[in-house]
Amino acid sequence: MVASKKPIEAEVSLYDFTELVFYVNGKKIVDGGIDPRTTLAVYLRDKLKLFGTKIGCNEGGCGACVVMISDMDPVTEKIRHYSANSCLTPVCAVFGKAVTTVEGLGSTVQKKLHPIQERLSIAHGSQCGFCTPGFVMAMYALLRTNPTPTEKDVDEALQGNLCRCTGYRPILEAFYSFTKNGLAKAPTKKDEMNGFCALGENCCKNQKAVPERAEKAKLSTFDQCSTYDPTQELIFPPELKLGEYHKRSFALTFGGVTWFQPTSLTELLRLKREHPHARLISGNSELAVELKFRFIELPLAINPKQVAELREHRVEEDGIYMGLGLSLTEMKDILTEYIEEYDVKKTAVFRSVCAMLHYFAGKHVRNMASVAGNIATASPISDLNPIWMASRAKLHLVSEERGTRTVTIDEKFFVAYRRTVIQPDEVIIAITIPFSGPTEHFRAYKQAQRREDDIAIVTSAFSADVDPDTKTIRHLRFAFGGMAPTTKLSTKAVTGVEGRKWNRELLDDMIVKIQEEFSLPPGVPGGMSRYRQALTMSFFFKYFTFVAHQLQIPGFEHFGIDERIGEPQLEGYQSTQIYADVPEGQPDHDAVGRPVMHQSGEKHVTGEAVYSFDVDVANMLHAALVTSPKAKGRIEYVDITEALELPGVVGYADHTDVPGSLLISHGQVPVFAKDEVSYHCQPIGVIVATDHETARRAANLVKVSIIAEEAIVTIEQAVAAKSFHWPAGHRIHSSLLKGDKVIETDWSKYDKIVKGEVKMGGQEHFYFETINCTAIPHENQEMEVIASTQGVSDCQIDVATALGFPMHKVVARVRRLGGGFGGKESCVGLFASITAVAANKLRKPVKFVLERFDDMAITGTRHPFSFKYKAALNNDNKLAGMEVHLFSNGGFAMELSKGVMERAVTHIDNVYNIENSNIYGRICKTNLASNTAFRGFGGPQGMFATETIMNHLAEQFNLNLNDFRKLNMYNEGDCTPFGMHLNQCNIRRCWDECLQLSDFDKRKTEIDALNKSSRYRKRGIYAVPTKFGIGFGFKQLNQAGALIHIYTDGTVLISYAGCEMGQGLHTKIIQIASRCLGVPIELIHVHETTTDKVPNQSPTAASVGSDLNGLAVQDACVKLSERLKPYKEKNPDGKWKDWVYACYVDRVSLSATGFGIIHHEPIDYNNGRGAELYGYCVYGVAVTEVEVDCLSGDHHVIRSDIVMDIGDSLNPAVDIGQIEGAFIQGYGLFTMEEIKIRPDGTRLTRGPGNYKIPSADDVPRHFNVKLLKGSSNNRGIFSSKAVGEPPLFLGVSALFAIKEAIKSYREDHGLTEYFTLDSPATAERIRMLCEDKITAKIPELPEKHTFSPWIADI
Ligand SMILES: Cc1cc2nc3c(=O)[nH]c(=O)nc-3n(C[C@H](O)[C@H](O)[C@H](O)COP(=O)(O)OP(=O)(O)OC[C@H]3O[C@@H](n4cnc5c(N)ncnc54)[C@H](O)[C@@H]3O)c2cc1C
Ligand code: FES
Ligand code: FES
Repeated sequence: MVASKKPIEAEVSLYDFTELVFYVNGKKIVDGGIDPRTTLAVYLRDKLKLFGTKIGCNEGGCGACVVMISDMDPVTEKIRHYSANSCLTPVCAVFGKAVTTVEGLGSTVQKKLHPIQERLSIAHGSQCGFCTPGFVMAMYALLRTNPTPTEKDVDEALQGNLCRCTGYRPILEAFYSFTKNGLAKAPTKKDEMNGFCALGENCCKNQKAVPERAEKAKLSTFDQCSTYDPTQELIFPPELKLGEYHKRSFALTFGGVTWFQPTSLTELLRLKREHPHARLISGNSELAVELKFRFIELPLAINPKQVAELREHRVEEDGIYMGLGLSLTEMKDILTEYIEEYDVKKTAVFRSVCAMLHYFAGKHVRNMASVAGNIATASPISDLNPIWMASRAKLHLVSEERGTRTVTIDEKFFVAYRRTVIQPDEVIIAITIPFSGPTEHFRAYKQAQRREDDIAIVTSAFSADVDPDTKTIRHLRFAFGGMAPTTKLSTKAVTGVEGRKWNRELLDDMIVKIQEEFSLPPGVPGGMSRYRQALTMSFFFKYFTFVAHQLQIPGFEHFGIDERIGEPQLEGYQSTQIYADVPEGQPDHDAVGRPVMHQSGEKHVTGEAVYSFDVDVANMLHAALVTSPKAKGRIEYVDITEALELPGVVGYADHTDVPGSLLISHGQVPVFAKDEVSYHCQPIGVIVATDHETARRAANLVKVSIIAEEAIVTIEQAVAAKSFHWPAGHRIHSSLLKGDKVIETDWSKYDKIVKGEVKMGGQEHFYFETINCTAIPHENQEMEVIASTQGVSDCQIDVATALGFPMHKVVARVRRLGGGFGGKESCVGLFASITAVAANKLRKPVKFVLERFDDMAITGTRHPFSFKYKAALNNDNKLAGMEVHLFSNGGFAMELSKGVMERAVTHIDNVYNIENSNIYGRICKTNLASNTAFRGFGGPQGMFATETIMNHLAEQFNLNLNDFRKLNMYNEGDCTPFGMHLNQCNIRRCWDECLQLSDFDKRKTEIDALNKSSRYRKRGIYAVPTKFGIGFGFKQLNQAGALIHIYTDGTVLISYAGCEMGQGLHTKIIQIASRCLGVPIELIHVHETTTDKVPNQSPTAASVGSDLNGLAVQDACVKLSERLKPYKEKNPDGKWKDWVYACYVDRVSLSATGFGIIHHEPIDYNNGRGAELYGYCVYGVAVTEVEVDCLSGDHHVIRSDIVMDIGDSLNPAVDIGQIEGAFIQGYGLFTMEEIKIRPDGTRLTRGPGNYKIPSADDVPRHFNVKLLKGSSNNRGIFSSKAVGEPPLFLGVSALFAIKEAIKSYREDHGLTEYFTLDSPATAERIRMLCEDKITAKIPELPEKHTFSPWIADI
């Protein structure tokens, strides 16, 4: 090829291929008309209409988009299969490769599931199903390379796949069944009969009395499943192999963007010289995010990954030369081979690289990303750069003009924030990773918010060469990431260290020097200034101890501070799900009480389940929001000129286009901001274009000018400014249940009193399917809205209000949601209204999908709370008085905040009988998005305060925590402070059974002993009880309707007022109908939830979905059964279909409506007088054991045991799934999920990159769930109880177990006073409460108002 300036088309024409060629699921795709910025995910979905691949975040952080890529290595010519995030992969990068999506595996239509799909569905491994195709594909890619993996291989393959619903247990078990011993290990039916039960000898089967309902210990077994046969898989397309596509160059130019994929270094260098500002795209894991969310220009991209020279690796004198066209996974595999081959002393750096790579991003990112991209990005929190610096790795750079040069990655390499010494025309081709010296000790450490798949808070690497005889230092080098705008090699602390001895003086000296060299100001970008400083010293301490141990220096025997205590015994996953089987003799057709698979289970695993996200209507336009860059201020101007000029843009709508009321959601929320803005990212207008990406790009071009005003962001600021919603506030006075006077506690009567404050942060819903809506205008001024909503009627009302239409002209519908958790209850109306306004203006169908980045900014979260409390015990240690002031952060509009506060104040008693309580709640009005419903709806916040108070009282007065709490628990018939009498109160039974199930006392004794011998790693175990009231707080919401049709072929169609969002509601409703009508579930179907079948629906929330709708369905079924009765009697030997047909012939209606209500008595919150508010309560207890690394703040959950009283379960599989999922969601709430907002109200946490929900690695390795047996509920449908929200609070058991571990560390350091642990118990909070000599070195933060913190304490 000639190196001269040519028009781009001429350059492109010189390439072997100028059209994209690749295979998808065995089918050849050829496309020359595609914008090279298009990602594979978008191409699969929009162009190929393969909707099984989902998009949950578009930034590589959730795994919903995972597909398998197969290609041929250009050097070894071997076929490789690997998983990849299709949302990060440019479609052009799959030139000459084969892509497999979930549709390529199995299908319900063809009645053939792949063994992965079969086992996952049998394991009840999906709830909402939106994450499921990604999990299936991650596992598939693993099996294609390794048909007999280990549990560790499975764990690694799933790094990068998140699930918000299931709690991971069933997914892991389904996939572990493919491991070498998987099927053998999975309990078989025989095991169950033999008592495979966590209760061991205490299992009821070993008791004398024969139970009338047998107890089972496992929900699924896989012994009947088909085995995996790798020979049955689709082969690599012969055409790609024979045509040697892996050696062919490819270029494509379209729409002003050009993609080059050269195959020779010469051509790569020529391109780089000719186009110095072109971006090299290796794995695209950095660039994709910049392209998507920062809208960087990319006229020309060069993919160097097919260049053979960049894929070489060889041994050189001083190390391994590693071509940087290799992915991180390939590099790790190659290094592992060298590690096995070489003397252990030479491979210390390699081992650190491999260890670090395990925690670098997720597997799918590592399969694509390169070291070159990591170094070129020069992120200060890169995980590898400290290793390169500390090991003096060498980088090989080539430019056409100046040839090759080698630079050492040292203190001069990173010149400024995200800048290196690399020149624009240079390509990084390789790195030399040095061999370690015979007396060198190398180690790297990282701490992130979440252990796996998370960027570092601080990351580090250390190298020391120490004479083993004299213990004198020959060199000491270390570097930290996360402590400066660049990765920083220590230059000051290490000065003069050569020749010194590796001893305690050195340690003490270095700790001081590190603190001086790596100090951070209080308001440092990124925040956590004290924690980050603590980590630098803690990491050095760990390293020092490691080296001292290697050198056998006496006094440092506590090597092992990095290894978990009793590591081997922690391996291996164990779980039980204990539930009562249906009674003997229950008819086969009656599905109630059976662990029936989720109605959509098989559709989830095959990717056939359709969400509103997948709606595809002819002539559909796409919308994107123009939002406020400020949290508070006046709109000066909005300039849309440039945006409208972008090809593909069709129009713009704002407040001037709203024909009805600008205020929706009961007059509180503006559809578009008009003159002023009240929160960051508030919608101002909407751009409509021919496709989603064009709409987003255009929206980014709209210029918005806001005259900013000071925002109120925190509860503290709102209280100071008296900025409240519902100025009257909420009250509960238990004394009003006994008389007419409020009685304040006479504190002077009691000796045992505690006072304190505690805070609890909010929580982002992180439902997998982001909010979306399609609005379709029809004739007669009708508007159809298909929205991802938990409340179709609320959507209908909001749209009708905004459009000024009567309600009967607006139909809102949804088939299923990819998760909701309360986040799609009231918020969706806003987006449905915006979409409908645009559709109404343009008279075209408009689809609007919120990117995760926007969804997290615009929609509210769980309410953060702050509590001030005072409590007293009488002489018998019984709760005599409690006074709590609750403050919630409601955001700019009240919306559901009142209901949330009501639930908080009615759950503040948790399970304890308090003689006198006075509770006060205030909702703070702030400039945040309106905070909203979230599973538990204020209950967990209220109960967190109570459990903190109980913990405080027990600690303060030296009481046994468990005995003290049991002493104060409710008994049957007791009355709560809010006036509800507790019938069928099973809390004490749950408590006893859970302590027994978890073997609490024995383990507590063992843990206490362990903590005495382990100085830096501590264990904690804690039991937490819960009680949750069932019913909506607002009376009118406690109603539901149903409409049932029976067709002449005997099939039954149910429409009812409930949405399926993963919680298995449709499945339970079908089971209920099967019992009521006496027909098998196969004859019953639920189609969708829609306002034109059942009117005036309450949102599917408050855990009452199956109670309310079950009653409505039962009511309709009873009517139909009555009509069918004479025909059954007339023809007793007939079948269901005969009776139905006879009815029809006799002109009897086979359609009926049903209606259901549940008990409710309103509370007078203005005065604080209680009432029998809820229908009944659900009880539960969890015991959790954790291990804490007190030096880093990291923790592991070792084991959790849960006993839940949910009455007679309608479906144990669904219910246990809800319990496990809620527990893990609660665990995330109380330990790692942190919403970060700047003091000016700008939201920072806007995706999985910086907001961490639990991953599969975080869940307990031993996880037992037991449904309390023999608890019937006379107020629930078929004696069942609700389950959706109640278990969530139990996740707090991890926080209190962590607190126990911290307490042990503090006691070792002479700190015996009570301390407060706010929620969440993040690594930062844990470490900073583990006060020791290191934390004492770090200066305290100055007075609150003397500096601007990075993050506001909302
Ligand atoms: C979900 C997710 C998790 C992540 N987790 C981590 C983590 O835990 N730790 C961490 O350190 N990073 C992490 N990252 C960041 C990123 O994955 C890494 O920096 C990765 O190594 C970048 O490599 P890439 O090949 O994808 O780069 P690309 O996005 O392809 O390119 C990045 C930059 O490097 C340049 N470039 C690429 N190749 C070359 C070359 N051969 N010569 C010169 N310049 C080149 C590009 O032009 C571009 O400017 C994460 C990213 C994501 C999306
Ligand atoms: S959508 Fe690709 S990882 Fe989330
Ligand atoms: S089933 Fe995993 S996110 Fe819903």
